[in-house]
Amino acid sequence: MSEWNRRTFLRRSAQAAALTALPGPAALLASPANAGVSTFPKGFHWGASTSAMQVEGYPYADGGGRSIWAAFEAHPGNIKDGSTNWIADEEYHRYAEDIGHMRDLGMNSYRFSISWPRVLPEGKGKPNEAGLAYYDKLIDALLAAKIKPFVTIFHFNYPEALQQQGGWLHPDSPQWLADYAHLLSGRFSDRVTNWLTINEPNILWGFGAESGIMPPSLKLDNAELAKGAHHLLLGHGRSVEAARAAAKKPIKVGLPFAGMLSIPASASSRDVEAARSASFAVEKRTIIPLQPAMTMMNNSWWLDPIYLGHYPEDGFRLFPTAEKLATPADMRIIHQSLDYCAVNLYFAPTVKAGADGKAELVPESPTAPRTHYGYPITPELLYWAPKFLAERYQKPILITENGISLDDAPSADGKIHDPQRTAFLNSYLGAYKRAHQDGVPLAGYLHWSLLDNWEFSEGYEQRFGLIYVDRKTQQRIVKDSAYRYKEIIESNGASL
Ligand code: BGC
Repeated sequence: MSEWNRRTFLRRSAQAAALTALPGPAALLASPANAGVSTFPKGFHWGASTSAMQVEGYPYADGGGRSIWAAFEAHPGNIKDGSTNWIADEEYHRYAEDIGHMRDLGMNSYRFSISWPRVLPEGKGKPNEAGLAYYDKLIDALLAAKIKPFVTIFHFNYPEALQQQGGWLHPDSPQWLADYAHLLSGRFSDRVTNWLTINEPNILWGFGAESGIMPPSLKLDNAELAKGAHHLLLGHGRSVEAARAAAKKPIKVGLPFAGMLSIPASASSRDVEAARSASFAVEKRTIIPLQPAMTMMNNSWWLDPIYLGHYPEDGFRLFPTAEKLATPADMRIIHQSLDYCAVNLYFAPTVKAGADGKAELVPESPTAPRTHYGYPITPELLYWAPKFLAERYQKPILITENGISLDDAPSADGKIHDPQRTAFLNSYLGAYKRAHQDGVPLAGYLHWSLLDNWEFSEGYEQRFGLIYVDRKTQQRIVKDSAYRYKEIIESNGASL
């Protein structure tokens, strides 16, 4: 950091009381101009997120192809309630009704994904016109309701035909994704400005190829993991290039990453520094209790190449074979200029500085509140994660997922009373607003999820929606929390 920045930081820190404890790099973010502002920035994207296989249903209608989830779902025991995604929320037929709800709730943005096997049944080659036509209708209906589409190009449902050829270990896999991105951008970029390449490559590859709890259910060694991760990163870079090359108008692009950050136990500079270094260290970590520690579950191995153009040095200890892969030409492809740092944030461990300054995990209280999924509830994540990510990667933050699963059910009055989700929104969004007040650049907040949906291995057991979906009748009921979200949106956060 330059001397000028350091001095500016010191001066600004003194003015912004909340920042006095923060060390150097926060200088770039400390903007007293925002201290005390009561709203989110102008033009903030407010909305909700879904993904194709979790809401659409009818994956094989009109010529759709199989994804790697087809065989996985069919295997007894893989999906908790034995369900499939064949019906899901019937969004394939009910999108107009749900767009009406979004409009009524005041949302200005909606993130959904395009189903790769629906539009390219073989993963590449001849497109399925009926599949593409569905997304034309969806996009047109969103625009008619004044809702901006945020399109995720690839959200977990990888075409089975490509997996059979080796999937992300195949040297052509980056190009397969790029060709698909080119097709989508050529078709929809006259109406879609915001594009997101790969949803959560760290989860996709960690759970899919390291622990194997998601398809393609592999258990690869570190050399193979690094190779697949490199192909995913190249796929991201090439699809950004391809989407921009095919775009009919200038587009904005990001990658929605599953943020794996740590929260400091206090605002002391030692704890903050410990949380920051834990957030960016490349080491094996456990993110789900009782699951083995995994090497793919970290931020920097994925995000440093994307935003900084190189792998983090400490990662080569785990992935020595990646040195060969990291050629200057490949790193240039991966390091595309992005418009925002898109991130999915749910919960995080709390750490404090030990005697040697290193991060020590603060054990969670056994009585701490948890979601129906069992995730801890950690609102401070929405303050610290944007701050840490924006400092390191110098991009505005776009939260592409954040939400809570509960066991919602209609009450005697036929409504869904979900005070825990309302409290979740108030506390998480309150923390996010504080990040803005401290000068962290923010672009938007897209809640996970619009609807109760099909939650992969959990089947229909986790309800993440702002809108309840009756599993038998498909009836929608707008939950109480959604009305609170509407107030927050309408006041652009002033009511928090
Ligand atoms: C995924 C979503 C999923 C959500 C809640 C994220 O990892 O992107 O598809 O439904 O978490 O578990």
